[in-house]
Amino acid sequence: MRVLVVGSGGREHALCWKIADSPLCDALFCAPGNPGIAAVATCIPVSAEDIDGIALWVAKERIDFVMVGPEGPLVLGLVDRLRAEGVKVFGPTAAAARLEGSKAFMKDLFAKYGVPTAWYGRFTDPAKAKAFISEKGAPIVVKADGLAAGKGVVVARTVAEAHQAVDSMMTERVFGDAGRELVIEEFLEGEEASFFALVDGQNALPLIAAQDHKTVGDGDTGPNTGGMGAYSPVALVDEPLQARIMREIIEPTVRGLAAEGAPFTGVLFAGLMLTKDGPKTLEFNVRFGDPECQVLMMRLKSDLLPALVAAADGQLAHFDLRWHDDAGLVVVMAANGYPGTPEKGTVIDGLKDAAAVEDVVVFHAGTKAEIQGDKRVIVANGGRVLGVAARGPTVAAAQKRAYEAVDKIKWPGGFSRRDIGWRAVKREQG
Ligand code: AMP
Ligand code: GLY
Repeated sequence: MRVLVVGSGGREHALCWKIADSPLCDALFCAPGNPGIAAVATCIPVSAEDIDGIALWVAKERIDFVMVGPEGPLVLGLVDRLRAEGVKVFGPTAAAARLEGSKAFMKDLFAKYGVPTAWYGRFTDPAKAKAFISEKGAPIVVKADGLAAGKGVVVARTVAEAHQAVDSMMTERVFGDAGRELVIEEFLEGEEASFFALVDGQNALPLIAAQDHKTVGDGDTGPNTGGMGAYSPVALVDEPLQARIMREIIEPTVRGLAAEGAPFTGVLFAGLMLTKDGPKTLEFNVRFGDPECQVLMMRLKSDLLPALVAAADGQLAHFDLRWHDDAGLVVVMAANGYPGTPEKGTVIDGLKDAAAVEDVVVFHAGTKAEIQGDKRVIVANGGRVLGVAARGPTVAAAQKRAYEAVDKIKWPGGFSRRDIGWRAVKREQG
């Protein structure tokens, strides 16, 4: 098969790294890719959101199968376009991608199909939103309806803070049109976990759970980011809980989307709060998480490509995947300034030494190759720049290897958290 992966982050590097290993894959391309991906795939200079450009290139290069990484092109209808042109593709249509593109759509679907979640109200009028907040009291959660790069959520401790969030999202439009409508919902207490499943329109195949670290600072402090690290397995998500998540959350969502005329193909990523009343859904994403995907690919023993093709073909019902018992853990290295304005262009050294650590893979997320003098160097070109991923018999062992590799990377322009996996490590120590 001639395979194209769309995207340019750590998630896409991990997917390409795994797919490149498949005996089914004769040629692997990535649009637009990055210097890390270039080691396992041919990068083509077409942006992930250039729907016309990708469709043209796919036809010209006779691509057999396309895997779409990020949500942007999904929401823009890349899958609809490629399917209409007869191309086999993994990922949801624009209609099914609304599950991530609109929190209001998602919450209404949950209500209609009985998926456990926080109670909520939808508002387009700031006065009504504030009245609802005053009536319900704090803590309470205010969310912009549309895509806001993971930043459109305020967990308000007080009514005043929630009112302030309404003003900034709806009146000042800090997230632009994403804040035209708000969802205001119940504050849920518990431990968070992410759960992933492959879906073929009708059937869902469970993958595994992971936990990420959303805030920028050690001890889960500071502002939210796209994710500073992740690990798997998650001890709390044992087999009975996994079965419950499939039965109560994933399967009703798959049935609901099909019944609404928007059957879902691709990967469902459920953000869960494990409350004392059972798992509740905070949100769904319609793609692999990043950096979670890096950990999933480290732990996946089976060939990924046939599973993706089976999902696209509606053939997941009898499919099975095998996983390493080993834990996986990834430490994100970000450019100084992230999650504000990251510093670009700083030189990164020591990548080879880091990758030489046993059971470590260094995934590129936001890098660029440059010629400086007579040398080819890798420089930072984004907020989250590298994912240093490791496998080990325990989370603690994987953590140790990952930081051993992090410490070999010579990059004054970047930083990482030092405590990725702390919850699991603490649990393992009993
Ligand atoms: P979301 O983008 O909806 O996943 O929200 C981002 C983060 O905000 C989540 O990972 C949670 O930490 C927090 N959060 C979102 N919704 C709630 C809620 N209803 N109760 C408590 N925390 C929440
Ligand atoms: N790491 C969270 C996400 O990919 O949305």
